Amino acid sequence: MSDTKPYIPESLQHIAIIMDGNGRWAQKRGKKRVMGHKAGMERAREMAEYCGEQGIKVLTLFVFSSENWKRPPEEVSFLMDLFATSLKNESKKLHKNNVKLIVIGDKSGFDKRLQKAIDKAEDLTKDNDGLLLQIAANYGGRWDIAQAATQLAQAGITEISEEMLSDKMVTAGINEPDLMIRTGGEKRISNFLIWQTAYSELYFSDALWPDFDSLELQTAIDDFAKRQRRFGQTGEQIS
Ligand code: FPP
Repeated sequence: MSDTKPYIPESLQHIAIIMDGNGRWAQKRGKKRVMGHKAGMERAREMAEYCGEQGIKVLTLFVFSSENWKRPPEEVSFLMDLFATSLKNESKKLHKNNVKLIVIGDKSGFDKRLQKAIDKAEDLTKDNDGLLLQIAANYGGRWDIAQAATQLAQAGITEISEEMLSDKMVTAGINEPDLMIRTGGEKRISNFLIWQTAYSELYFSDALWPDFDSLELQTAIDDFAKRQRRFGQTGEQIS
């Protein structure tokens, strides 16, 4: 590997990832699907390390959608255990690396043990000012918009601006994703940050998530670096 420093464009502050393909990765190897999630967890850790080292400000990982409860109960239960164990095992290291961890999503859907593990990890890392690692768990983009609108309705507000809604989303105050990556070959957003990715650059990789290493991530970043983001303007206005 070359020892030149990877190029990270200044405009790339927030990366969001849909980590798809764990089940297929395991099945291809004759293993149970859940073993893919275990391997996927290792990759998630590698991505957080890489983003932290490269000075990315925010990494948002989609670990469990509001719709994933429909999976077979044993897979759901494995994912919940993996989540709780990972929070317990990784939070000290994240703290040491100055990472601030927050869980975005409907935490009330988790059992008390998991809620406690989340609170503990968030509390331990709350003052860190390195990478912000947002774990989207029991998260759905439509849920996020609805809960933001509910808060405004409860406050008696009927004239709703885009800013007012953004300020009530679970990502309030955080820069929107500049780059959204989906692995696993599918090309859809699956109710991830549907409001916040309105102007994100999208990158789809055929690699199954446990095969998506930091070199693959850098390839996605290099691709992002070539894009011209116009935000509604013309190319001439931008250049
Ligand atoms: C999608 O792959 C992946 C998930 C639903 C779970 C993502 C979880 C991890 C990467 C592990 C980290 C987890 C925690 C809880 C910290 P899939 O199962 O849909 O794969 P497939 O499309 O091949 O079936």
